[in-house]
Amino acid sequence: VTRNYDFTISRGALAPDGYYKKSGILINGQFPGPTIEANWGDMIEVRVTNNITSPDEGTALHWHGLFQNGTAWYDGVPSVSQCPIAPGASFTYKFQAGVFGSSWYHSHYSAQAAGGLFGPLIVYGPSHVEYDEDIGPVMLADWFHKDYFAIVKNVMSNNSSLWANPSDNTLINGRMPYNCSQVTDGTPCGDAPFAKFRFETGKTYKLRLINAGAAGMQYFSIDGQTLQIVANDLTDIQPYNTTIVTLGVGQRSDVLFTPKAINGTKSIWMRTLQSGKFCQRASNPAGRAVILLDGAPDDTIPKTVAYPAPVDDGTCKNDPLELSVPYYEESLPEPSTTFQITVNTIVNASGNQLYTMNGSPFMANYNNPLLGLAYQKNVSYPTQWNTYNFGSNSSVRIVIWNNSSGPHPMHIHGHDMYLLYDGTERWDGTTIVNPLNPVRRDTHNLRPKGWMVMQYNLDNPGVWPFHCHIAWHLSMGMYVNLMESPEKIDAAAIPEVLRETCDAWNEYSKSHV
Ligand code: C2O
Ligand code: CU
Repeated sequence: VTRNYDFTISRGALAPDGYYKKSGILINGQFPGPTIEANWGDMIEVRVTNNITSPDEGTALHWHGLFQNGTAWYDGVPSVSQCPIAPGASFTYKFQAGVFGSSWYHSHYSAQAAGGLFGPLIVYGPSHVEYDEDIGPVMLADWFHKDYFAIVKNVMSNNSSLWANPSDNTLINGRMPYNCSQVTDGTPCGDAPFAKFRFETGKTYKLRLINAGAAGMQYFSIDGQTLQIVANDLTDIQPYNTTIVTLGVGQRSDVLFTPKAINGTKSIWMRTLQSGKFCQRASNPAGRAVILLDGAPDDTIPKTVAYPAPVDDGTCKNDPLELSVPYYEESLPEPSTTFQITVNTIVNASGNQLYTMNGSPFMANYNNPLLGLAYQKNVSYPTQWNTYNFGSNSSVRIVIWNNSSGPHPMHIHGHDMYLLYDGTERWDGTTIVNPLNPVRRDTHNLRPKGWMVMQYNLDNPGVWPFHCHIAWHLSMGMYVNLMESPEKIDAAAIPEVLRETCDAWNEYSKSHV
């Protein structure tokens, strides 16, 4: 079965929280973008037309968490797997839903995702738990009233007062009324609705939580209710109970929830607290949505009380690795090679603040994507393309040290990572959490001044980005490209449309800088 979608991307006015933005990015006129749905094993085809104008920009869509096994060309990363889709041009992605669970897609061009260019991607598969109803995606996202291109410019400047955080709002499924009395510059601002959910007591619901934000960690809860986490990213886990679900940017958690009335009230707040720069929550706005139980009247505003917020100790860590035990077991192989990455910040010669991984900030290479070079022999890669070739190794263990004071939700393409260690102490080189069945997921939060150790199997020939998912950090170069078995990349399979896309982009970029 092939699931077909036709996406036209354009700028448009957008006021999800009541505050008017002229320059949001929409898919088929919608924000968030349409939900892509498929069954496990289906093919997904998405035709993307770039109508982004004033200012015009390239674009490309990435299917977060999908492995693109044998279709590395459709991973949607400008500089790596394709040239950007030029304004006016179209490109059709074709790939298999080879994994199942809750995910999302987003632009991988500059910080466009922070302008609204994202949506849910759900692949239905077997369920290891029972529930009555799947209510689908619950997308959590910080929201900025400034335009993303202005923010990117600001964060690169070496002036901390211009940096992005705190955000202006936190949206749940694209909604959360803004307090318009805070607007001082005359920008139009008006009423906006809360997202609303109707549930019945006694039934069990599945919520697919997705942190689709630009920068903030999210701490999700429902007043007075217990939540059971059953999947993290695309990995089903042994269920465990919690009251607050922590999600770094790019992370997903499926939770089950059996609503109960609190002190007789049938109207309850769903909430998400946010932490931003340096992990502090204090100055960040929280998001809320309304839950109505058993046919409570539509206009009921909840009066329930939030759980106490988790201690804000400035570490914004994920739940301990010990808590997440994959339901389908996989034991950890001996790595055939190891590697170390140190994260740092630098100010470059032109006064820009950048992130480095092993000393070098990644610089975009739009006209000449790495994958198009990888299968050719004897290509040498400029340092600033941050490309590491693991050749024909079968697995690699990577020790990452964050020598910066910010948190970094680290995301790998083309793979899941086994997570072996997460802490603020230097790793002792041997202790591994649950080696017989370690946590597997595609995104994990690296703590400020912290260490994490991950490993993955080199079973997918290609060039795969490994990067921080904070939109601004990505723009500041916090990005490496991990190459594996380049000789096995099937050059003959490169679709002609990719060459056309590069031709169109190179033509376009001649007349635009
Ligand atoms: Cu969700 Cu490289 O991205
Ligand atoms: Cu980061």
